[in-house]
Amino acid sequence: MNAGLKVFAPASVANVACGFDVLGFAIEKPGDEIIVRFSDKPGLKITAITGAKGKLPFEVEKNTAGYAAQRLLEHLGETERGIEMEIHKKMPFGSGLGSSAASAVAGVMAVNELLKRPLEKRELLHFAVLGEQLADGAYHADNVAPSLIGGMILIRNNEDLDVHRLPLPQGIYASVVYPHVKILTKDARAVLSDQVSLSKCIQQSGNLAGLVVGLYNGDLDLISRSLQDVIIEPQRAKLIPHFYKVKEAAMNAGAMGCSISGAGPSIFALSANSLIAENVGAAMEKVFHDAKIPNELFVSPINQEGAIKC
Ligand code: HSE
Repeated sequence: MNAGLKVFAPASVANVACGFDVLGFAIEKPGDEIIVRFSDKPGLKITAITGAKGKLPFEVEKNTAGYAAQRLLEHLGETERGIEMEIHKKMPFGSGLGSSAASAVAGVMAVNELLKRPLEKRELLHFAVLGEQLADGAYHADNVAPSLIGGMILIRNNEDLDVHRLPLPQGIYASVVYPHVKILTKDARAVLSDQVSLSKCIQQSGNLAGLVVGLYNGDLDLISRSLQDVIIEPQRAKLIPHFYKVKEAAMNAGAMGCSISGAGPSIFALSANSLIAENVGAAMEKVFHDAKIPNELFVSPINQEGAIKC
């Protein structure tokens, strides 16, 4: 039997408060799994999709994972190869956890592994971003890059994929709460004004630079002061019920910072260690619980490996 191989690509938190479209980190769970194997019939075929409640297309050109993998196969001149792909969605769509990015990453990673790694992991980035672009219309790597290579990633420039891994002080943990409210990235991008005042631009630049310095120096107070989004969060907060209450609960429980995860509705907090992160997560979750909004909590170290063959 041709068992093929399986890869896992993790969820990710984009923006990280002050880095809209230019910062992101991966978490350990949840994530997507893709199984690929060679077949006798030429071309890439999606043969199974689970966990998507019938919402994902089997057509390769319309499916995030399939589209990304197909672009990679074209680049490699392997379009006649018979490959079957099974997609096992193990994370929610429209959650702000980089669901489409994880699928795209898993798609390219799986095909690359099946072909015995013709490209290095980092060289897969462009193809995975094409898959993400199919899903939300924008060419941005702030979910894809951390899901692929792990860690806290700065994207100096999305067009050139000028991507850099930032150091992380030991022990930093994330708490991410996903309230079951649907927000599509396209819609959350549509609410944003394209005008930003000079004073807000100055504050946000200071925060982003401060966060980078804080990460390099292991300065938790500086990280905490810098984890503030004065541009995007105020415009998107209204899309997430009880956002400011959840943020207040997280900060009162000892988080270093708290903001919207990607385009939302998930909300993330960063904490100095796992115990604080567990307390912070419980406090965030309680707000949704009290408001009778179903939710899921993920407490996780920053995933340093990204996508893996498993
Ligand atoms: N940076 C993106 C946004 C992440 O916030 O719209 C979601 O894909």
